[in-house]
Amino acid sequence: SADEVVRLHVVTRDGTRREVAGKVGDNLLYLCHRLRKTHPDITLEGACEASLACSTCHVIVSEKYFDMLPEPCEEEEDMLDEATCLTSTSRLGCQIKLTRALDGIEVTLPPYSRNYYVDGHVPEPH
Ligand code: FES
Repeated sequence: SADEVVRLHVVTRDGTRREVAGKVGDNLLYLCHRLRKTHPDITLEGACEASLACSTCHVIVSEKYFDMLPEPCEEEEDMLDEATCLTSTSRLGCQIKLTRALDGIEVTLPPYSRNYYVDGHVPEPH
């Protein structure tokens, strides 16, 4: 059901591994915004509000789970090209929707993302 809990691990920008939880259907970006209330070091920005016009929601997905995600659309590929710290398992967090199968997923926040690095701005949690 939609209320099903999905456990995840978020590795923060300083390398701390946080065990947190979301629900089936959650958008990873907005989940991270909510999680900032209890975990201030989960700083996934999302400057363009999930409109595929930035790369500040860049996350690195653990390989096993990366392979389970639907293919990125062309706009996501283009934005990822702009991302700092790009890896072969990079995705935009705002394009990841939690499913039952993703239970246990690990996502790493790269050491910095472009806007975060330039102006240090992190929006308040939603
Ligand atoms: Fe800008 Fe995801 S929030 S592309």
